Amino acid sequence: MNKILVTEFINKQSLDRLNKVFKVHYDEKLWKNSKKIIEIIKDFDCLIVRNKTLINKRLLDKAKKIRFIGRLGVGLDNIDVKNCHLKNIYIQPATGMNADSVAEYVASCSMSLIKKIPLFHEGTLRGRWPRTTIKSEEMNGKNIGIIGFGSVGKKVSEYCSRIGLNILIYDKYFVKFKKKNKFKFLNLINLLKKSDIISLHIPLSKQTKNLINKGAFLKMKKKPVIINTSRGSVINEKDLIDAYNKNLISGFALDVFENEPVKRKFLKKINKKMNCILTPHISGITQQSNIRVSDFIVDKVIDFFN
Ligand SMILES: NC(=O)c1ccc[n+]([C@@H]2O[C@H](COP(=O)([O-])OP(=O)(O)OC[C@H]3O[C@@H](n4cnc5c(N)ncnc54)[C@H](O)[C@@H]3O)[C@@H](O)[C@H]2O)c1
Repeated sequence: MNKILVTEFINKQSLDRLNKVFKVHYDEKLWKNSKKIIEIIKDFDCLIVRNKTLINKRLLDKAKKIRFIGRLGVGLDNIDVKNCHLKNIYIQPATGMNADSVAEYVASCSMSLIKKIPLFHEGTLRGRWPRTTIKSEEMNGKNIGIIGFGSVGKKVSEYCSRIGLNILIYDKYFVKFKKKNKFKFLNLINLLKKSDIISLHIPLSKQTKNLINKGAFLKMKKKPVIINTSRGSVINEKDLIDAYNKNLISGFALDVFENEPVKRKFLKKINKKMNCILTPHISGITQQSNIRVSDFIVDKVIDFFN
């Protein structure tokens, strides 16, 4: 019987299905103990992770039997993909399975930030009743610039067009698109210039690290709000706070951070008067997406080993 190691949380019913077919070792906190994973990995045929388990060369060298890695989510930056390929290990992400949840998160943060809800909330809570001092706006007709038109970027585009936003897109590798489509494809500089909201949906790579830096903020002409659900390091966090303090942008929502959990050093730069929303890497995690993601990976594992 094939042995499966699951080192991060998975939907209970999906786990029950795995247990019927395989010998499963499940410990949702094991990702914190990489020494232990390295110690036991030699016995397993399959590894199932989210984004916290570090699958590096050290671990792979000990993983003599592993043939399949299931990723409960998307983004492979915690996995040494090159070494997996060299060792003939198949990697299966749950592409698209949490895209609806992210799209809803982006739409709700766009609305909250454009309408200055964090500022109204804080002012009301403190007894200031800021009914006329804070200027709120309507969403209809605003431009959202979407950077990265993959499975999440596409969902965000569809969702946001339904709530009255004009969709501008920049994707370095997406060249052809049917003319009749209502979305507008631009280069990065024009997208930065024309957007009222900018949402990031690119993987973290050498090319995308710090893509949104001081130079990029200076090109933003409409004081946009920035939403990042991709990976923390695609935005330079120091430059983001500087841009907000210099009034180059009018708000930001961050679901992902350069370091996770986010460091105190960064949090010290945030104050209650900022039009901002911070969340702990949850935009893709809802009850519904957890079921879809977990079932998808379990189906793939069963197919692979049968
Ligand atoms: N916060 C969360 O819970 C959550 C959930 C889902 C996805 N994500 C992250 O969102 C990102 C996008 O996910 P996805 O499933 O849409 O990925 P995807 O691979 O389907 O799409 C990524 C897109 O980015 C484009 N791209 C790559 N490099 C680029 C560059 N240098 N400039 C412009 N475009 C570039 C690609 O052409 C592709 O179309 C990933 O980083 C993923 O990890 C986060």
